[in-house]
This record gives sequence, structure tokens and C-alpha cells, in this order.
Amino acid sequence: MFWPKLPNKQVKEKVFSALSRNLNYREEKILGLPATYLDQEQFYFDAPFLKDAAFLSVLIHNPNHIGCHTYQKGESYFSGTQELEIDLMRICAEEIFGATAGGYDGYVAPGGTEANIQAQWVYRNYFQKEKNAKPHEIALIFSEDVHYSAYKGCNLLGIKAITVSVTENRAWNLQDLEKKLTAAQQAGIKYLIIHLSMGTTMFGSVDTSAPVLEIVRKHNMDYFVHVDAAFGGFIYPFTANSTDLSFKNPEISSITIDGHKMLQAPYGTGIFLCRKGMIEYAQTAEASYVQGTDFTLCGSRSGANAIAVWMILMTHGSDGWKYLMQKLIDRTDHICETLDELGIDYFRHPAMNIVTLKASQVPANIAAKYHLVADNFQHPKWWKIVTMMHVEKNIIDEFLMDLHQSRLK
Ligand SMILES: Cc1ncc(COP(=O)(O)O)c(C=O)c1O
Repeated sequence: MFWPKLPNKQVKEKVFSALSRNLNYREEKILGLPATYLDQEQFYFDAPFLKDAAFLSVLIHNPNHIGCHTYQKGESYFSGTQELEIDLMRICAEEIFGATAGGYDGYVAPGGTEANIQAQWVYRNYFQKEKNAKPHEIALIFSEDVHYSAYKGCNLLGIKAITVSVTENRAWNLQDLEKKLTAAQQAGIKYLIIHLSMGTTMFGSVDTSAPVLEIVRKHNMDYFVHVDAAFGGFIYPFTANSTDLSFKNPEISSITIDGHKMLQAPYGTGIFLCRKGMIEYAQTAEASYVQGTDFTLCGSRSGANAIAVWMILMTHGSDGWKYLMQKLIDRTDHICETLDELGIDYFRHPAMNIVTLKASQVPANIAAKYHLVADNFQHPKWWKIVTMMHVEKNIIDEFLMDLHQSRLK
């Protein structure tokens, strides 16, 4: 994995140059588009800082990145900034997730929820079109630690949700998987979408594909595998020695990654990636007034979001990002070492920055003081700590000292 770090000046120049290749509502005769720049009372072009603020400049020019630009040329009006989105997809798919050159499609989605549902939508349509499947013959299968967007998608798409329990170490319970698959087949399920997580929301656990797929294969069902790396996608590939949840694994068909989680990008920067040949199943051919039609759930989307993620990746380079993520792992190690000394039970994946503590061992006032998040705020069984960039050592130490004090009482 390697992409170079660029000096700030060059990052800015590239963004302004991309913007200059877009159609400009201020300078050109644009009568047909139901779109324009941002409100000029609030977001005026003449603000003096704008000449140095590449992201804000794109935001104010307000390019629409509707469509899927890795697939085919989209709206020609905004081809400059679309090119940077295409480069962003290349970095995520090829550099981070091991895809072959050009062997993927993708776009910047509003978030992980849409990217996960987009995957389900693509596969449901594939099964319907190619296998003549009925929605009630298609199921999404996932572990109980899944993000709730999995259920949301099943509800929207009319497909069945199958939840598999987990073991002590948050891995798929393979006996339960076997049981659920047998029951599903008896109930008429013929097609599966397997949802694996690279960093579950509550535990940061990372699924392993091989044991799950070995059992699925025995059941002779058609399936696709989607990886939800919404949380883990910008940390785990940088901190783990290797992963089976990438495009290098021929079993993996699509991946969700969120810029607005670990990458510190603004909200609205989910990323959906799938292998070439699949995005067509989500094409809305009726979108005939959009150049290139549409392949996404959301439709119109701000080009500024893609630019924000691209700028962050360029600012750090792959080595810089790896270093930053390792810093968070070191801080998380420090938390776990102290919890071990205090005899407090927790779950943590060694290459992730989430520590999930048994609620019975954490006084409620400490959980409240440090804004720990519960699995269920009504009846907490677990509290989680997420070592994000703002979680500095001094705050961690204060928390650990409070926990230590509470153990002495
Ligand atoms: C693993 C996982 N997937 C998907 C999502 C949904 O992301 P978003 O809130 O960006 O839609 C989250 C959010 O926390 C998540 O943790």
C-alpha cells in the first residue's frame, strides 16, 4: 500500500485546478441546471480567506457529483472535481483494499448506512434479474454485533434478515450459523448476502471470512459477500498484519468505508466500492436527464465531500496515516494494560482502537463522566471507549485513575 504525501501547497493547487475545470455558475451561461452556487448572503465568494481554502471554495461552488464516475462519464459540468473522486476511489479500492487496477466501481455516499444498503440493493437486484429470485427467497446474514443499517436495508428491500449469535470472543458462532442456514433453506431462502464487519460498532471486532464461507458453501446457495468497514476501513488495514476482508480475496464483492469516522472527514463521506460488473444492477435507467444516468441511492451529492476525503489522504500519505493510526493503537494498548492490572474485564481486538468494558465493573458515574457509550442505554451490559484522535493520554489517565479509585472503595 502506498500513496505519497503531497505538500499542502500542491494539494490546494490540485483542488483549485480541478475546480477550474468544472462549469462555473458565475462565469458561464448556464440556463438549464436546477442548481447554483451557495447563498451569497451567507457564503460569499469574496471572503478573503477563500483563496487559501480549497475545500470551502469547492463547497461554495457547489458541484453536484450525481452518478457513478468510475463507471462512466457523469455530468460533464463537474468533470474537474469528479476526477479527484475517481482518484479517491482508486486509492481506497486499489491501495487500501487491494483491488486490481480499474477493477471496481464506487462513489462517495452520504454515509455507511447508505453504502451498506447500496450493497444489498445491488445483490438483491442481481438475484432478481439473473436468477429470477423473489425478494422473500433472498436473505442478508450477519452476526448479532452488526450495525443496525443491516436491518434497515432488509426492511427497505423486502429481504429477510438472519442474525447469527457470537461466541465469547465476538466471532460468528458457527454452530448457530449452521442451524440458521438449515432453517432458512427450509423456509425457502435460496440466495444469501453475507455481511461481514471490519470493526463492529460496539466491540470493534473483525469477522473472518473463511470459517463462515466454508459452512455457507456446504449449503449450496448462491451468495455474495459484503464487508462493512465503515468504522475499521481507515484503521484496520493500516494496523493489522494482513486481512482476508479485501478485494485480494476473490470472495469479497463490495466494501463500505466511512471517511467521517476514523479519517476525520466531514459528515457525508461514506464510500461504497464494488467489483466491476456489479454496480449496473443498481442502475436507474429512467434517470435519463442525468448524463450517464444514476447508480446510487442518494442521487445528488456534494462534490465537496469527495474533495475533503481526497485532501486528507494526500496531506498524510499512506505512511503518515499508518503512523497516526499506530499512535491510537498504542494509546488503546495503554488502556488495556491498566485494565488488566485493575482486573476489569473487557473485549478488544488488538489491531483496533475500541475497548468494550463489562458494565458491571464500571461505576455508572464514571461511565457518565467520560461519556462512555452503552450497548443499550436502558440496560447497559457493556460500555465502550473509542480512542479517537481527540482522546489524549491525559484524559485516558484521568479515567483510569478514577477507575482505580473506584476499585479501592
Ligand atoms: C460498522 C458500522 N457500519 C455502518 C455504520 C453506519 O454509518 P453512518 O452512521 O455513517 O450511516 C456505522 C456507524 O456507526 C458502523 O459503526
